[in-house]
Amino acid sequence: MPVGPAERALIDAALEARTRSYAPYSKFHVGAALLLRDGRIVTGTNVENVSYGLTVCAERHAIAAAVGAGAKPGDVVSVAIVALAEGPTPPCGACRQVLAEFMSPDAHVLMHNLRDQQTVTQTLGELLPSAFLSFAR
Ligand code: THU
Repeated sequence: MPVGPAERALIDAALEARTRSYAPYSKFHVGAALLLRDGRIVTGTNVENVSYGLTVCAERHAIAAAVGAGAKPGDVVSVAIVALAEGPTPPCGACRQVLAEFMSPDAHVLMHNLRDQQTVTQTLGELLPSAFLSFAR
């Protein structure tokens, strides 16, 4: 999918959030940016912890920030994830489930790789088919 100005703005916001990544253990810095239905952009970055398991991914940080800013289920139109890696960085399984609570299955997930400046886009439904949403909404 070609990256238009709206997608570019979302990627740039994720890129900026990535500069604040706290990843002293993995040194894998990730930024995420959510586009909300009302046009606002909310960002997050990964926050690691010495106990490792308490690490918060960029995507879940962004969702928590969006909820803090008033977002409700269905309000997240798309998400951009930026990292420097061999290929695109898809959200981990836990983040897919958390994103599914706030995004529709046809919402776009933009994965931008700083190494080759390529952006791969998939829908959340492609990344997480058969999401568990039995009690949601
Ligand atoms: N990480 C994210 O923040 N988002 C992803 O989509 C993949 C992984 C973080 C968690 C951890 O801080 C580091 O990347 C290495 O796994």
